[in-house]
Amino acid sequence: MSSFSYRPLCLALLTLAPDAALPARAAFTLTVDANAPGKPISPDLVGVFFEDINYSADGGLYAELIQNRSFEYSPLARREWTNLTAWELAPRGGRGELDVDGAFPLHPNNPHYAVLSVREAGEVALVNEGFDGIALRAREDYHLSFFARRLYAGGRWDGQKSSAPLPLVARLETREGALLAEATFAIAEDSWTKLSAVLTPNADTPAARLVLIARERGGLALDDISLFPAKTFRDRPNGLRADLAQAIADLRPRFIRFPGGCLVHGDGIPNFYRWQDTIGPVEQRRQQANLWGYHQTVGLGYFEYFQFCEDIGARPLPVVPAGVSCQNSGHTGGTGQQCLPLAEMDTYIQDVLDLIEWANGPATSTWGAKRAAAGHPAPFGLKYLGVGNEDHITPGFRERFELIQRAIQARHPEIVVIGTVGPAPDGEDFDRGWRIADELRVPMVDEHYYKAPGWFWDNLARYDGYDRSRAKVYVGEYAAHDDKRRSTLRAALAEAAHLTALERNGDVVSLASYAPLLAKRGHTQWSPDLIYFDNTNVYPTLSYEVQRLFGNNAVATILPSTLRDAPTDLAFSTARDSTGDLILKLVNGASAPRPLRIELTGFTRTSAPATLAVLANPDANVANEDARPPAAAIRTETISVSPAFEHELPAHSLTILRIPHTP
Ligand code: AHR
Repeated sequence: MSSFSYRPLCLALLTLAPDAALPARAAFTLTVDANAPGKPISPDLVGVFFEDINYSADGGLYAELIQNRSFEYSPLARREWTNLTAWELAPRGGRGELDVDGAFPLHPNNPHYAVLSVREAGEVALVNEGFDGIALRAREDYHLSFFARRLYAGGRWDGQKSSAPLPLVARLETREGALLAEATFAIAEDSWTKLSAVLTPNADTPAARLVLIARERGGLALDDISLFPAKTFRDRPNGLRADLAQAIADLRPRFIRFPGGCLVHGDGIPNFYRWQDTIGPVEQRRQQANLWGYHQTVGLGYFEYFQFCEDIGARPLPVVPAGVSCQNSGHTGGTGQQCLPLAEMDTYIQDVLDLIEWANGPATSTWGAKRAAAGHPAPFGLKYLGVGNEDHITPGFRERFELIQRAIQARHPEIVVIGTVGPAPDGEDFDRGWRIADELRVPMVDEHYYKAPGWFWDNLARYDGYDRSRAKVYVGEYAAHDDKRRSTLRAALAEAAHLTALERNGDVVSLASYAPLLAKRGHTQWSPDLIYFDNTNVYPTLSYEVQRLFGNNAVATILPSTLRDAPTDLAFSTARDSTGDLILKLVNGASAPRPLRIELTGFTRTSAPATLAVLANPDANVANEDARPPAAAIRTETISVSPAFEHELPAHSLTILRIPHTP
């Protein structure tokens, strides 16, 4: 049996006598010093971690509907992939060819394009299947755009070349070939020209195709063929899928960490995620393989990430490589870390400093001007910057991390650098990472843990004893991994219990984010995840509901409280939010309901209304199933509370009690 006590001794005098008339059903009494000034905690504690894993970006949050739009897929990402993956040539009466060329690209960063030739007049179609089909809604607008160049018209080698424009028809069709929408173009230019049209399908379809039809003899170069819903999140051009972005916004995250994870330090040095490659016109961004086995168009790039953060009131938390690649690079099982040559470190460090200028510099600065040119003259207000992710803490890592960290500290002391302490909550990398943090005075370190639900309950006191003079902690990746890696209520409640412990220690734990955030059905490489989705639906897990409840009940100060002889399967935090509301979070991990006596010392109102939000199910093994009602519903109700009252916590439940502040 343990006993949590957060009450400074001097505050004990404020305790009011409990209401002696209450029935003595409850075996446990939670005493909260409701009048104490409380311990201020991080205002940014609960956020999210977005990594491009499980098709989270292309085919996921990024609203682009065309797969391999710029013909840059390659076997480097997946052995069977080519530049024409997701595309096919469909002769429809004509005779033609589909090739890939690179002689006169749109941009050196976008070296390949398609060549569609019609040899014998008659329809020849270039078809894109989207990401598992293109989901369309009737009567909604879709923006089609592409770059095209007329290569020749008429016969190519028979002296019948003409200067006439070549017609091209763009159609949205069902898989069976029914027409949903159509636009006609005439390709007249011999140099790359952007063409666009709005297509409005006449019927809903979960899996349409884009069909580009040439019908006259000649050749066309085509690149960056794009189809976006007009309705993106906040109507941003090149924007995000509205329903998925809204699901993230509903969590009310205080920050978003991006773009990874292992994706950041990449599969070898050439695969580092380089932020500068992800800004500017999309057709000029440098795409590359994703170490999770697919492709990154980086259409969802740094500008879009920062814009999304701003749109939902979250702080951006980008992570850059620490000058070393993932230790698992090249499938080496932990021994494949590559270190950037020291001779290249100055240039690399400058890239990192440029990121800070791009985010925060005035629009007149070199990099601030690029941000302004993209449509955001005001600085983004970058505060946190991760350097490294779960790196193997080797001498090579240390040397490079130190160079980066010192340069940032010298030039930008306002930036909070977040160092890394390996992939686990203990062990060699963890200890070495912390040692480096101590020696270099790193302001914050990133701890990760994927553990069984029991581990979370057993470690509720993990941060109680952390030395407050050392680095602050960012719990950058955590999730309770239950049997078969299902997102059970048991796992969700273990995470909720853990979050109460993080709140109580929010003076040393500054940030926390569940991982991973998103996973597409049929492309899930890692389980569990917070939110599943397909092309038309979003499927939140019970862990999502926990994060949502915490995000919507964020607190500012922790109030002293005591629960004598607290059972190990009961967790709690007692706090006020920034408006002064009193918020109690209570997690009952037991399979039986638990009556609790709650004493609010210093609470002078004889009775007050309070709102309750309860997530519960007597069976901890339940998990949400796609398109079914939640396995554990969130019940909300208003109750009346007094300076001392009893409240029963349901079996396997998270209860959030909010008592509004009255001035
Ligand atoms: O969250 C999935 C992966 O887990 C991350 O990419 C990595 O940092 C960790 O190992």
